[in-house]
Amino acid sequence: MRIALIGAGGQLGTALMARLEEEVLPLGSRDLDIADPEQVQRVIPELRAELVINTAAYNFVDKAEDEAERARAVNETGPKLLAETCARLDIPLVHIGTDYVYGGAHPHPHPRPYVETDPATPSSVYSRSKLAGEQAVIAHCPKHYVLRTCGLYGRAVSAGKGNFVQTMLRLGRERGAVSVVDDQWCTPTFATDLAGAIADLITTGKYGLYHATNSGSTTWCGFAREIFRLQGMAVPVTPITTAQFKAKAARPSYSVLDCAKLTNVLGRQLRSWHDALAEYLATT
Ligand SMILES: NC(=O)c1ccc[n+]([C@@H]2O[C@H](COP(=O)([O-])OP(=O)(O)OC[C@H]3O[C@@H](n4cnc5c(N)ncnc54)[C@H](OP(=O)(O)O)[C@@H]3O)[C@@H](O)[C@H]2O)c1
Repeated sequence: MRIALIGAGGQLGTALMARLEEEVLPLGSRDLDIADPEQVQRVIPELRAELVINTAAYNFVDKAEDEAERARAVNETGPKLLAETCARLDIPLVHIGTDYVYGGAHPHPHPRPYVETDPATPSSVYSRSKLAGEQAVIAHCPKHYVLRTCGLYGRAVSAGKGNFVQTMLRLGRERGAVSVVDDQWCTPTFATDLAGAIADLITTGKYGLYHATNSGSTTWCGFAREIFRLQGMAVPVTPITTAQFKAKAARPSYSVLDCAKLTNVLGRQLRSWHDALAEYLATT
């Protein structure tokens, strides 16, 4: 199978390049700007791919509040163009969504992980643009695999914006102590594990919307503590609240995803976030 991989230099793109055994046609933003209709409509058919994977996105959550137009172009217009083009070519499209579509108050008094059918409640420019993108893919490309993931980290060929693990290690070295938000629950996810899930899912023909993260959950503060523990770094981590951190964009207080649907289709669940993090740190 010939696979066009968009965003090949990003975290997930780099992991997919390492994982996919098929013929992969890697595309960076210089090869294809997904927000440009002329480029999408010309380049995608020329590739003669049998499947397209879109890992490209505008991922600057706070900056998006001031750059809404750019965020929407990459996160909403781009996926819509790709979906329309893949539908015309009658080929499947893999697209990646985010846990941040669950931004509002949790609908249950005692939060439980979100399932795919729970109503989305995005609360920022970034999350609204990502939700619109996945909805466009679902609406326009019948053969879609949309995977919502969370707290992604991995190696990336392109510079990109870095990830939480790299940021914590840098701040730990520079400052010797860090303060990290302790009232936002999520599941850190290793790009290598998500790439493995995608590689398996595309062989099933079971199109649809999936939640796809490592197992378990923690807060960003818990994640930071585990990073330093595994690295053997004695860096004190002070828990703070979302209000104290004062980020520009609103973030969910709880966005843990229930991945049972994906588990059923793949016949396995992704390993715990602890084990995945340990491997990432040991191999970076
Ligand atoms: N990072 C997270 O914590 C997180 C959480 C939930 C969901 N996700 C989603 O997971 C997916 C993968 O994320 P990631 O962390 O791997 O992303 P990443 O490392 O930031 O990489 C994004 C890639 O998108 C490419 N790109 C940006 N604008 C483009 C455009 N207009 N046209 C074509 N390519 C463009 C960039 O290419 P160049 O390098 O060539 O500029 C970059 O390689 C994204 O859909 C993201 O929204 C991420």
